[in-house]
Amino acid sequence: MRTQVCIIGGGPSGLLLSHLLHRAGVDTVVLERHSRAHVLSRIRAGVLEWGSVGLLDQAGVGARMHREGFVHTGTLIAARNRPIRIDFEALTGSRVMVYGQTEVTHDLYDARDAMGGVIVTGAEGVTLHGLPDAPFVTYVKDGTEHRIDCDYIAGCDGFHGASRATMPASLLKTFEKVYPFGWLGVLSETPPVSHELIYANHDRGFALCSMRNAHLSRYYLQVPTGDRVDQWSDAAFWDELKRRIPHEAADTIITGPSIEKSIAPLRSFVAEPMRWGRLFLVGDAAHIVPPTGAKGLNLAVSDVHYLSRALISHYTDNADDLIEGYSETALARVWKAIRFSWSMTTLLHRFPDQTDFDQHIQNSEIDYLEHSTAARTVLAENYVGLPF
Ligand code: APR
Ligand code: PHB
Repeated sequence: MRTQVCIIGGGPSGLLLSHLLHRAGVDTVVLERHSRAHVLSRIRAGVLEWGSVGLLDQAGVGARMHREGFVHTGTLIAARNRPIRIDFEALTGSRVMVYGQTEVTHDLYDARDAMGGVIVTGAEGVTLHGLPDAPFVTYVKDGTEHRIDCDYIAGCDGFHGASRATMPASLLKTFEKVYPFGWLGVLSETPPVSHELIYANHDRGFALCSMRNAHLSRYYLQVPTGDRVDQWSDAAFWDELKRRIPHEAADTIITGPSIEKSIAPLRSFVAEPMRWGRLFLVGDAAHIVPPTGAKGLNLAVSDVHYLSRALISHYTDNADDLIEGYSETALARVWKAIRFSWSMTTLLHRFPDQTDFDQHIQNSEIDYLEHSTAARTVLAENYVGLPF
């Protein structure tokens, strides 16, 4: 098989990239290791920057998002039972869209099918060959080996994918920070406790109240590294959550059985450069953020914005300046989101080794947020998303 761009990974970044390229007349093949059902079974964050909303609209996949998503013009940061509202609209003129990543992925798969996009699921042993300048890809499907010759490879295969692992160690530089706690997440078929998200800083640890829709709520608790899901009964989860969120929310929350319960580790990770010859790294293949700032999916969309523009410019205008500049341009925005996610994580969590001095710094930062429009504007403009 031959194609112009071979895309490894059928998650949000791989699907959005293939759709944007296909709409511009660029031929792609997506190779996904798992089944579509497996990809769609993943529970992930659900906050879209307004720039991500715009790119999904540009890709023609925004209709259901606008019908079923929820526009949020602010969020609540609570500490010592005092909620501080961050008014995105007033501070930045922008907003976010609350719409689950699973739904975005659903919409992308539907759009790819409608356009006859080529997506190979169950592609095993994907291997990248001929880099940096003469790439081809091999994979095994139902026991048969296949080869795809291509002009470019987009590594949209996530943190554990094959693409970053193919880059020479002499070229690749990685930067990592592992946080000393995890997030225990619960999905429950209950109405959200609040119309807006509540990020709660508490002596017992961080808690987050979020939602998927008017009948599906998503809650998180900071838990020590090493905690296992089977240590947390639903009752224990709800009791702890009520201790950490503002009293009014704790008094009104409607609890119910968890339909999903899992613990995610928190880390910040960046791999540089995001390009090696004709291989490009995109999304989680190149960077990981702690979920505190809801930047994971949005950074994947950001990379897709830059790479789709670069490849379309190559094929349409025979211009390669955007390809040459992809890694530097993408990383400039990645690091700002990495910084924001780190700052939100340090602002809101209790660290096992923190000192009294650290706690005073955190308290003063919350107070600064409460009393300074400039401080709230900084948080707001990063949360709604910096310009591409
Ligand atoms: N061969 C083929 N497919 C692979 C391989 C491989 N060797 N390794 C991983 N994949 C697939 C995974 O099965 C997954 O469907 O690549 C896809 C990568 O998707 P994501 O991990 O979702 O990464 P990305 O598309 O960059 O989206 C980033 O998704 O998972 C969230 O937290 C993440 O919000 C972030 C967003
Ligand atoms: C979620 O709804 O899963 C969610 C929302 C905001 C975050 C993290 C997760 O910062």
